[in-house]
Amino acid sequence: MDGNGRWAEKNGLERVFGHKEGVSSVRSVVEGAGEMGIEYLTLYAFSTENWNRPKEEVDALMGLLVQAIVNETDNLDKNNVSLRAIGDLASMPPEVQSNLAGAIDKTAENTGLRLVLALSYSGRWELAEATRRIADALKNDKIDKSSINEELIAKYLPTFGLPDPDLLIRTGGDFRVSNFLLWQIAYTELYFTHKLWPEYRKEDLFEAVKDFQKRERRFGKTSEQIRI
Ligand code: IPE
Ligand code: MG
Repeated sequence: MDGNGRWAEKNGLERVFGHKEGVSSVRSVVEGAGEMGIEYLTLYAFSTENWNRPKEEVDALMGLLVQAIVNETDNLDKNNVSLRAIGDLASMPPEVQSNLAGAIDKTAENTGLRLVLALSYSGRWELAEATRRIADALKNDKIDKSSINEELIAKYLPTFGLPDPDLLIRTGGDFRVSNFLLWQIAYTELYFTHKLWPEYRKEDLFEAVKDFQKRERRFGKTSEQIRI
């Protein structure tokens, strides 16, 4: 979800207003995902690297996050959405942690869209974290070196239980991945749009999915093999 700051600037506003407007985009896209029957949606809300932004902006983002969780949880629950979070959650402010835990708990039994918030998250962070945990398991004789394979590594990632994404959408006109789900996007279709996140709505998501549907996913095989 990129482009909040630029949207604000374009409209002669402080950056924080871009983040505020971005919450409306989240609402629309979550709604649209539910309507389309999408099963999993992961939102990259705050990266490990975002901690390096000016303190006022980080504080404003944390405040907005708490506000969004408080305001939206009932609605998510009504729409059968279940919430989950990935990232270094212990590094988040206590107010975020408690509200998030409450929302996750409240929506845990829901069977519709699984909404995943990536918070204080980066792909390299989670791989380092998984490596530490695998090292512990080895040291404590819980696993054997020969059992370390791709499946086992996936089990030590916070995304365990979530399928690899089919489609990754980046808004804001930059063509990069910025440390998002590095392990999981090995065969993900990438979709980039110039639209800034605060302007993004469910109709844009529908368009991205339509584009996705035209693609041939070969997973290393030949076109001929796929068509059989
Ligand atoms: C994305 O918008 C929001 C977060 C990273 C939290 P940006 O804040 O990165 O907006 P730009 O890239 O400066 O326009
Ligand atoms: Mg940005």
